[in-house]
Amino acid sequence: MNILLLGSGGREHALAWKLIQSPLLTELYIAPGNAGTRSAGTNLPLSATDFPGIKQAVKEHHIDMVVVGPEDPLVLGIHDFFLADPEIRHVQVIGPVKQAAMLEGSKDFAKKFMFRHGIPTARYQTFDKSAIVSGLNFLQTLEPPYVLKADGLAAGKGVIICETLENAADEFTRMLKDSMFGAASQKVLIEEFLRGIELSVFVLTDGKSYKILPEAKDYKKIGTGDTGPNTGGMGSVSPVPFADAAFMKKVEERIIRPTMKGLLADNIAYSGFIFFGLINVSGDPFVIEYNCRLGDPETESVIPRLNNDLVQLLGSVASQSLHLETITVDPRFAATVMVVSKGYPGIYDKGKVISGEEQVKGSMVFHAGTILNTSTGQVLSDGGRVIAVTSLGETMDDALAQSYENIHKINFDGKNFRGDIGFDL
Ligand code: AMP
Ligand code: GLY
Repeated sequence: MNILLLGSGGREHALAWKLIQSPLLTELYIAPGNAGTRSAGTNLPLSATDFPGIKQAVKEHHIDMVVVGPEDPLVLGIHDFFLADPEIRHVQVIGPVKQAAMLEGSKDFAKKFMFRHGIPTARYQTFDKSAIVSGLNFLQTLEPPYVLKADGLAAGKGVIICETLENAADEFTRMLKDSMFGAASQKVLIEEFLRGIELSVFVLTDGKSYKILPEAKDYKKIGTGDTGPNTGGMGSVSPVPFADAAFMKKVEERIIRPTMKGLLADNIAYSGFIFFGLINVSGDPFVIEYNCRLGDPETESVIPRLNNDLVQLLGSVASQSLHLETITVDPRFAATVMVVSKGYPGIYDKGKVISGEEQVKGSMVFHAGTILNTSTGQVLSDGGRVIAVTSLGETMDDALAQSYENIHKINFDGKNFRGDIGFDL
């Protein structure tokens, strides 16, 4: 089977690393990929949202399956694009159709879905430009801190948490009036703040049955002790110790099953990964958000713990025979630490020469924002998040110690990372 994997982050390098372990794979292509995915397959210089270009590549390379890493192509309808075209409709696309990807593409859609199906989540209301006054009134009924969310995709930046009512009122007005997040903030949600510890739960579904994959916790803030601005994610661990059997039973009964039943009831044909962004509020799980894909950097910890053949598993999604599969998981802990560029998550450096990867022993190195300089053969930084180092260990501390030992061997000018991944567990 020939597979085309879309995306260019650490998630995609981890998926590529896993896909090539399958005897079912013939050729792997990655579009656009990064300097790391080159060692797993052939990078194609194509954006993951260039649908006509992707169609061309699919025909040229006789692709049988397209695995979609990031949310943008899904929310833009890449699966529907394939289904609508007789030339490529036979190709298996792993990822939901546009309507189903709305669970991530519109927070208002997701919230309505959760309320309709009794899935625990924060109280909220949605407002547009014509309802600013009502929004300000709703804010007054809530306790601080205040959660404001742009309805649409905003590259992970669309959520603002405000400590004071005054600040929340200002930001809310700016989001709507000044289109702070462009089209994404045409509608803004005001949400009740939930206090607890977050985790990410992943499900793979073929629309009929589902399998729960290992859960993970990611560390979104740039600074030690979860301080400073949000990033795409500075590290992850899996499993999550507080997600014991009793907690995961609540997650499955109160959240996963009602979500699956809700999708069926609403006639939403969902296939692919569902990422449940959850928060544990005094032992009870609530949904913060749905995503229509795997998480990054969670994937870098989750995929190395999955014992199954991933090509086989994804094939079962496409053929709707997932019920015949059994997920088996490595019981060890995985710990991922992300190395980022100076300045990230603000304006950051690029083009720095990366050295030392060959010194790494006993860890996996997944590239994120890297690019190969084809004339010099050097690997250069090319993004905010540059490289993820993942290790497996008998304990979380063992896994973390191994990742940190290896992280010191990878160097580039301005390299930064968090030294306290897993600190709260
Ligand atoms: P999201 O983009 O929806 O994942 O939100 C980004 C982050 O904002 C989440 O990971 C949470 O840390 C935080 N957040 C979002 N909604 C809430 C909420 N209702 N209560 C507390 N924190 C929240
Ligand atoms: N790590 C969070 C995300 O992928 O959205």
